[in-house]
Amino acid sequence: MEIQNKVAVVTGGGSGIGRGIALALAGADADVVVADVDVANAQRVVKEVEALGRRAVAFECDVTSEASVEALADFAWEYMGHVELVFNNAGIVALGRAVDTSTKDLQWSFDVNTFGVWYGSVAFARRFLQKNVKGWICNTGSESSIGVASIGTAIYCGSKHAVLGITDTLRSEYQGQIGFSVLCPGMVRTNLWDAGRHRPEKFGGQFKGDPVAEKAIQYGLDPAEVGRHVVGCVRNEEFYIFTHPHVKEVAVQRAKEIVEAMDRQWPQGAGPQHFSTLDVQKKIMEELAP
Ligand SMILES: NC(=O)c1ccc[n+]([C@@H]2O[C@H](COP(=O)([O-])OP(=O)(O)OC[C@H]3O[C@@H](n4cnc5c(N)ncnc54)[C@H](O)[C@@H]3O)[C@@H](O)[C@H]2O)c1
Repeated sequence: MEIQNKVAVVTGGGSGIGRGIALALAGADADVVVADVDVANAQRVVKEVEALGRRAVAFECDVTSEASVEALADFAWEYMGHVELVFNNAGIVALGRAVDTSTKDLQWSFDVNTFGVWYGSVAFARRFLQKNVKGWICNTGSESSIGVASIGTAIYCGSKHAVLGITDTLRSEYQGQIGFSVLCPGMVRTNLWDAGRHRPEKFGGQFKGDPVAEKAIQYGLDPAEVGRHVVGCVRNEEFYIFTHPHVKEVAVQRAKEIVEAMDRQWPQGAGPQHFSTLDVQKKIMEELAP
């Protein structure tokens, strides 16, 4: 996917990985709409993008609101004239072992991490199709999307698995029309440990992040480096974008566990009655075709 002279929209662009992506896009000669619920931070990133010689504009957007994301998409086309790249990256984390967490944190996490990605994917995909633009949508998941299940992250992990599932299905649905990536980072040195700064009143209000999480995240990668890697991978049209090699072991282990379970359950292999879902879908579509 060509990056030069394209227009990109980055949600959660005011901080951390989103800021890293915005600056890397500018470094690759793209213009950027920096969208964030924290518009003051978004405006700071706009100045940094402009200092790299590219056009940028801030937009206050709450990705938990479908109307706000639709307004972002309309604004991006009106202001910039065209849009080709979208990074649905805004996200939060609420930590705690399952029995100690609240349903409100579950709702907040899915609202931002999953519904936010859904609204952004659908709003921009619909416009790409209507305008006949072969755009690219990169959704930020996590290493948790593919099986890193660290203690105290069940809610987060669930919301990020959903990001992978949604993005993977959209790439099948719009194959050849719109490109998709899922970014699955390991630890990156951002402000994610203090995500509670944005928790709305309806989900329990603001809270200060855990100092242990703050200490831990300092071991993370530089978000500027992650931003450059992401932009390079989108240029190369990668679906999965990884930042940490240890995730490979987790992926191999998960695949091995699945295959071993299948081999135990059907030691002689599956029978002829075991139609695959994709085969049935193809069969039914052929049957229903005029
Ligand atoms: N930092 C890591 O170690 C790490 C690892 C894996 C995945 N991620 C993912 O990367 C993405 C970016 O997080 P980060 O680490 O840069 O954290 P960050 O806190 O530095 O940045 C997140 C940004 O999202 C914005 N945001 C929060 N709620 C929003 C909302 N409702 N609408 C719009 N914007 C909102 C924040 O204002 C902030 O600018 C998230 O999806 C996160 O889950 C981060």
